[in-house]
Amino acid sequence: MMELNFMRLAQAALILSVAGASGAGAQTQLPAPDSGTPIAPVATTNKDFTPPDARSIPDNEFGAMVRKGQDIFMRTGEYTKDYVGNSMNCASCHLDAGRREDSSPLWAAYVLYPAYRAKNNRVNTLTERLQGCFQYSMNGIAPPADSETIIALQSYMYWLAQGAPTGVKLEGQGYPRLEEPEQKPDFVRGERVYEQNCALCHGTDGGGQKVEGKMVFPALWGDDSFNWGAGMHSVSTAAAFIKANMPLGKAGTLTDQEAWDVAQYMNSHERPQDPRYDGSLEATRKQFHDEPSDLYGMSVNGKILGQNATPAGGTLRNK
Ligand code: HEC
Ligand code: HEC
Repeated sequence: MMELNFMRLAQAALILSVAGASGAGAQTQLPAPDSGTPIAPVATTNKDFTPPDARSIPDNEFGAMVRKGQDIFMRTGEYTKDYVGNSMNCASCHLDAGRREDSSPLWAAYVLYPAYRAKNNRVNTLTERLQGCFQYSMNGIAPPADSETIIALQSYMYWLAQGAPTGVKLEGQGYPRLEEPEQKPDFVRGERVYEQNCALCHGTDGGGQKVEGKMVFPALWGDDSFNWGAGMHSVSTAAAFIKANMPLGKAGTLTDQEAWDVAQYMNSHERPQDPRYDGSLEATRKQFHDEPSDLYGMSVNGKILGQNATPAGGTLRNK
């Protein structure tokens, strides 16, 4: 974690406001990173689906649950601290409160479950999918299936997806996969991309930035980030997310190769242990990370990734 000084924050705020003001037409409108206020739907080019206006959540019992789900999604640790071990929010990786297309939007996810997942080799309910987000991306523990946390998140997703066809992969779902890069993703090139495009917000040490204990820019690696079991630890997934969504406010400005390189750099750093770790790095790699591009258990600059990982669970371990 780096100490935030005011110069840096001012710089970053300037970038955010400039990015917000100059975004391509009405295409994007930046929310303050942790303002908790989702924006109204923007005009998009999406032919398939546009989620309802955030202001149209109904004023009744069901609406209250939808609002709770939205709050959890935006400020996850604050609203569900018993399940969250880092200082990320769901919205750190699913932008605009889970509305933005190509940022794995919730409305597109809702209509795709139950679904088979290779990750655990069975058909997953939406509940299981959400529990996994807490265990891996939030480096925490799974909320019980009948908990208010799960009910609220599903209510929010259901509300966002109203009118969408079921069982259809809608335009904007997930993070758009990139073609294989021309050159093998490279740590050194990635480091340069990082310094020039990312460090200002995410910190030179990748630890993100906080103001008065509140996360402003989320950690990309280290103890405050997602763990080794999270989807974002995969270089191809990270490259896809980064290309479509980062640098914040200037999405799409990196070349594909730069996105691959900076993803390789980001995921070549230590992060919290995979919760499925069984005491042997080799066995855990073989069982869950058995792909040439997966960096878990691999040696980078003389360090074996995963070997010095703090145990999974983050801040929950001190409770
Ligand atoms: C560190 C980044 C990160 C965080 C934080 C995060 N997610 Fe995700 N989420 C991902 C990635 C990566 C995927 C997989 C997308 C893919 O494979 O293309 C995903 C997938 C999903 C999906 C399935 C999407 C689909 O179309 O099938 C849902 C639902 C979801 N996340 C909800 C959540 C919720 C709820 C939270 C907070 C409790 C959360 N996520 C936190 C990165 C994150
Ligand atoms: C202007 C500030 C800014 C810049 C520059 C920026 N980011 Fe981000 N990034 C953010 C914010 C803020 C979020 C969380 C999204 C939100 O809250 O809307 C984020 C989220 C992320 C995430 C998902 C959350 C996490 O912590 O893992 C990744 C990965 C990421 N950024 C990578 C990058 C990379 C790589 C670059 C450089 C190519 C970059 N970012 C440049 C501000 C920035």
